[in-house]
Amino acid sequence: MQLPPALRLAVERELSAHPLAALRVAAEGLSLGYRGPRKGQHPPAMSSAVERAAYLAVRMPATYAAVHRALRWAAEGTGFAPQTALDLGSGPGTALWAACELFPTLATVAAVERDAELAHLARRMTSDAPLAALREARWHVTNLNAALPAGQCDLVLCSYALNELDSAERVDVIAKAWARTSQLLVLIEPGTMAGFANILAARTQLLAAGSRIVAPCPSQQSCPMAANDWCHFAARVERTAEHRRLKQAELSYEDEKFSYLAVARENILTADSATGANAARIVRHPQLHGGYAQLTLCSEGKIAQATVTRSHKDDWRRLKRLGWGDRW
Ligand SMILES: C[S@@+](CC[C@H](N)C(=O)[O-])C[C@H]1O[C@@H](n2cnc3c(N)ncnc32)[C@H](O)[C@@H]1O
Repeated sequence: MQLPPALRLAVERELSAHPLAALRVAAEGLSLGYRGPRKGQHPPAMSSAVERAAYLAVRMPATYAAVHRALRWAAEGTGFAPQTALDLGSGPGTALWAACELFPTLATVAAVERDAELAHLARRMTSDAPLAALREARWHVTNLNAALPAGQCDLVLCSYALNELDSAERVDVIAKAWARTSQLLVLIEPGTMAGFANILAARTQLLAAGSRIVAPCPSQQSCPMAANDWCHFAARVERTAEHRRLKQAELSYEDEKFSYLAVARENILTADSATGANAARIVRHPQLHGGYAQLTLCSEGKIAQATVTRSHKDDWRRLKRLGWGDRW
């Protein structure tokens, strides 16, 4: 996928304010920090204008792709048409851009971000966005641990922010996020063991709070993922020329790995999901061999292998359209 043209332009405009050499140094620092925070450490905060700009170039396209992917899977088969959205730990507004792109029904959107400079940058980037909801977005500069904006929203998002909180803060923010959700809450974290651990803990907490899981889990039963494994997916994003220059990367795309959880109040669920009769989920890249394919599926509280052969004509055809992360 590509960033929408208006977002690409907004990113380019921000980058043009900084010398390439300074952006490269900042991008390298951010990439290292995101690739390798040691266990228990938080990813690096963005502490200067050039670091915030570098985030737009080297992280925002990937987090945008992950949020877009997660939202598509979450809304699949639900007829979800939100009017209001709230983004928690919004950074430059990544998740709101993705949500507004996917749900044209969104009319009123808001974000909470503790870094005033990032909120300012997000406001600047949306000031001439083609969608009115983005242009008129409200950016609240406050800590997620403080009171969140009052009232409920149809869609509440928290993208790549839980991992910047301590575990007690995470529990508190998830409870507040759910209390603010009138329809769908979507959490997205890095596709690492640590990111998945946050998602799994949120899953337990939100099930206990009475939510229904919409995606990726096909059932409300205990997660069957083995203790040394982690449930994650991938979103491919095209690298712009600027992105390649800054990362000094050759490939024209990158695959962002992420874990996510979408939970709903009963009112957005279709008859299928409300009865728990969800399809299985493909949780690994299908392995294609001559004449047959092997799928790893999560279904009915189990991880199981399934073989599809060319002679299963309908399934074989479906496999051409579907892949890792899709419902089966
Ligand atoms: C990695 S960035 C993700 C930004 C954006 N959601 C995205 O997906 O690209 C995490 C953001 O969460 C914000 N954040 C972390 N802890 C926070 C807190 N306690 N209160 C408010 N914002 C917080 C950070 O300032 C940062 O902008």
